[in-house]
Amino acid sequence: MEDFEKLGVFYIGREYDLPAKKSGQNLILYDSRDMVTHGVCVGMTGSGKTGLCIAILEEAAIDGIPAIIIDPKGDLPNMLLTFPQLRTEDFAPWINEDDARRKGLTPQDFATKQAEMWKTGLASWGESGERIARLKQAADFVIYTPGSTAGIPISILKSFAAPPPALLEDNELLRDRINSTVTSLLGLVGKDADPIKSREHILISTILDSAWKQGIDLDLPALIQQIQTPPVKRIGVIDLDSFYPAKDRFELAMLINNLLAAPGFSAWMEGDPLDIGQILYSPSGKPRHAIFSIAHLGDAERMFFVSLLLNQVLAWMRQQQGTTSLRAMLYMDEIFGYFPPVANPPSKQPLLTLLKQARAFGVGILLATQNPVDLDYKGLANCGTWLLGRLQTERDKARVLEGLEGAAASQGGKFDRQAMEQTLAGLGNRVFLMNNVHEDAPVIFETRWAMSYLRGPLTRNQIKVLMDPVKAQLPKQAAAAASPYAQPSAATPQPASTAQAASKKAGQPILPPEVQQYFVPARGGQGSLLYKPVVLGSAQVHFMDAKTGIDTQQDTAVMTDITDDVVPVAWDNARDADFSISDLEKSPRGQAEFSPLPPVAGKSRSYDQWGKDLATYLYGNRKYELLKSPTYKQFSKPGESERDFRIRLALNVREQRDDLTEKLRQKYQAKMASLEEQVRKAQLAVGREAEQQKQQTVQTVISVGSTLLGAFLGGKGLSVGTVGRATTAAKSASRIMQQKEDVDRAKETVAAHRQRLDELEAEFKAETDQLAARGDPATEQLDTISVRPAKKDIQVRFVGLAWLPYWQAQDGKTTPGWL
Ligand SMILES: Nc1ncnc2c1ncn2[C@@H]1O[C@H](COP(=O)(O)OP(=O)(O)O)[C@@H](O)[C@H]1O
Ligand SMILES: [Mg+2]
Repeated sequence: MEDFEKLGVFYIGREYDLPAKKSGQNLILYDSRDMVTHGVCVGMTGSGKTGLCIAILEEAAIDGIPAIIIDPKGDLPNMLLTFPQLRTEDFAPWINEDDARRKGLTPQDFATKQAEMWKTGLASWGESGERIARLKQAADFVIYTPGSTAGIPISILKSFAAPPPALLEDNELLRDRINSTVTSLLGLVGKDADPIKSREHILISTILDSAWKQGIDLDLPALIQQIQTPPVKRIGVIDLDSFYPAKDRFELAMLINNLLAAPGFSAWMEGDPLDIGQILYSPSGKPRHAIFSIAHLGDAERMFFVSLLLNQVLAWMRQQQGTTSLRAMLYMDEIFGYFPPVANPPSKQPLLTLLKQARAFGVGILLATQNPVDLDYKGLANCGTWLLGRLQTERDKARVLEGLEGAAASQGGKFDRQAMEQTLAGLGNRVFLMNNVHEDAPVIFETRWAMSYLRGPLTRNQIKVLMDPVKAQLPKQAAAAASPYAQPSAATPQPASTAQAASKKAGQPILPPEVQQYFVPARGGQGSLLYKPVVLGSAQVHFMDAKTGIDTQQDTAVMTDITDDVVPVAWDNARDADFSISDLEKSPRGQAEFSPLPPVAGKSRSYDQWGKDLATYLYGNRKYELLKSPTYKQFSKPGESERDFRIRLALNVREQRDDLTEKLRQKYQAKMASLEEQVRKAQLAVGREAEQQKQQTVQTVISVGSTLLGAFLGGKGLSVGTVGRATTAAKSASRIMQQKEDVDRAKETVAAHRQRLDELEAEFKAETDQLAARGDPATEQLDTISVRPAKKDIQVRFVGLAWLPYWQAQDGKTTPGWL
């Protein structure tokens, strides 16, 4: 494993020497935490934007960070073309046959060449099939195709579901959400509606607002129905029918209905709901890179879907706890049309809100575009990292320069417009200028080779081939996903044996008033009613445990049969009550028969004893189970599934690691700085050397020693100018030595400090190794911890007689009548 894998940094390329037109040795390691201030990648077609952004996503995946990827053009499914063995036969099914023909090669020969090219390409960037295997292992890659069944379809029916409370409470957010939902829906039926002037927009907004505020979900059929009979009588102060006559409303309803009825629209109704929390992680908690391929859709449909998706991301995000680490990424390739400076398409507002708020939740947004003019300037101002590639027009360059100048001014840095203009003009394919607000100076770098086979857009059929095996597993996954959330269901009582039921029946027994008796309400069924007695107990159990931090109340209701045995009521045989205590009634429902009641159940004293027995039973049998991570000494929370616990744990671990790496950075920065100072002093002592030569020696010493360490420290803090990464390529130590007169002394000095640097590197490596040696929360064996209640923490609330209704058929068979 490369050392940088442990540090929460993304390996995106190597520093590039523009005048010399080649990349140097310094790795460009992007701090993953910088991504939470978002990034934008600009460059003309073919400049390598998508390649760079895929490399960033690959790094995120390796670091266990999930991503939502919006792909209007079709290049992103390439992320599924990862072949650890890099064999010809791996590439063969995926090559672009047109490319082969153009090159006059057979598909087979072309595949061999491509495999060779990827292998050598990767090798030249220090990457291998082994790293590809790690990438595949780290995350699942899935392709969603809304409105099509080629990939995994996505059901948008659920997307008019009421937003979560966190969003409902925020008026502004709710209004934005409604606006963008309605605008995109109307766009879908071909109506370009103004939120303030269009009555369609106002009506549907009113309907959504009214439903959502009551927590009611709406699907399209429900919406159609409500357009015809809205839940309100007035819009503003105007009577509904004057504002929007029923006849016209019917027309609008028909328009939306036609949408539903349109051939192919059914594909929009199938598949997974657009639930971001479920999409970002597999049922077992493995991070996912979910690629939403929308290349096959029409413009209105794309806009509709992108707006919905962004709104869902926003809603999900607002439910998360804050973090300072990168939790998830949202990438959009080719943002053109979705985030324009002047117009206001429905995708713009949610994207703008995301750019403003996502940082606090650790959601990093990365946008790519060919054209800087496509980007809203407020949005740009919210992006901390600019990745600027080769640009086509003067207008594009001017716009980018303007932006850079503004950024430099706000960071208080100097800006040499002419030099920057030259730099931008000199950028070639896969060569980018990165301006990161967290670094001291811009850096020019060449993007590393992508592990994914960048063959270009895949056909629908190819997507199908990739996703069919995944789809085949989906029902299983869905079942597995449901189980962690499923409440432990109460054991269904066995239907009483027919013989017993048929043999003994009587009327309602007469009981003393001290005996509390209740009737479980019967629900519709066939036959006559028969009541059977059970003892019902309810209690509150408080689980408290200082060590695990558990402090939670559990209400419990159990019932058990009353027998003629020596111990007539044995709670050991108890089952959970599968009805609600608050539904109990005081009298039976009409005509009914009653199973005989053993005499002990007619004495109130018996119930006192059974109450004590119940407490003893609960004390001995109730426990609160939670999961413990032995490595990280953390516990799951009440109601938290293993999946969610692992996801939370992983984020925690990442936060800790990021804090630790930050500490490492500070520590080594200080050491490097003092070393640098010592070298400088040593140089002065040497005395006779020319000013320029001293400078060169310093550079030599530092850059020889600081390979990984230097890259890790990046531009952060090290004084640029002396040892900054912007310095020219390191000259070899020996060459400079020869230039010097006082060779021996200088050599000594250099050797001493070089050794010190080597030590520093070794020390740094040891510390990072230690970081990496910690377990992986995704696969760590979790312990199950049981917290048992103290006697005093069990409050028996009630013990009494309950009558369970059964439906009795002609042949005497009985079935539970309360379920
Ligand atoms: N990181 C990379 N590794 C390998 N090949 C790359 C990389 N980036 C770009 N390429 C090559 O250059 C082509 C164009 O790059 P791409 O990223 O698609 O450009 P853009 O998105 O700017 O139009 C790709 O199809 C691929 O062949
Ligand atoms: Mg592209």
